[in-house]
Amino acid sequence: MAQHKPIGHGDLTGRVGVEVIRARGVDVDLLIKKLIANAAAEFSSTYYYYTILRMHLAGHEDYKEICEDARLEDRAHWELIVPRIYELGGELPNDLPTFHNQAGCAPAKLPDPPTAVNILTLLLESERCAIRSWIEICDMTFGKDPRTYDMASRILNEEIEHEAWFIELLAKERDGKSIPSGHFRRGEPGEAPYSKNRQFYNP
Ligand SMILES: [Fe+2]
Ligand SMILES: [Fe+2]
Repeated sequence: MAQHKPIGHGDLTGRVGVEVIRARGVDVDLLIKKLIANAAAEFSSTYYYYTILRMHLAGHEDYKEICEDARLEDRAHWELIVPRIYELGGELPNDLPTFHNQAGCAPAKLPDPPTAVNILTLLLESERCAIRSWIEICDMTFGKDPRTYDMASRILNEEIEHEAWFIELLAKERDGKSIPSGHFRRGEPGEAPYSKNRQFYNP
């Protein structure tokens, strides 16, 4: 591990909040890169992917509603994690296509044909990608960077619930089977019980 000079009195060129996690073994540059990839995936899913998928669930009000919960919770994930990127000394790319192309999950497209089964399958696989991405951040930070770990584990809680929702819906729609998720939709759309920092930044 590279040795870093201690941060002096009034020195603004370094951050103690970063040095302490680096000293505990976090690869901060890699962490920033992965957080940007995850932020890009949350951004494209909330503002684009889940939006167009939800539009094409016309006639399935129950599916639309659960898709909307998952969509708004991705927005809460986006809001939660972006400030952390800057705290760590990183920044979002100053170019939207570049940012989008760094996403940690496959680029989003409406399926052809956009049937409920095809849309629910995409939603399910998107949640699975999110689970894999966020558990990776948990693994990188556990016991070393409590702040990022706390955020990532709260997001992961919701991604795991989202996967369970879409397993239940797809099982019924595609296979006529009952595979309960153990959850229902949120009290109000986008409630994000684990990831919304109501007291801090989120409107
Ligand atoms: Fe998410
Ligand atoms: Fe999700």
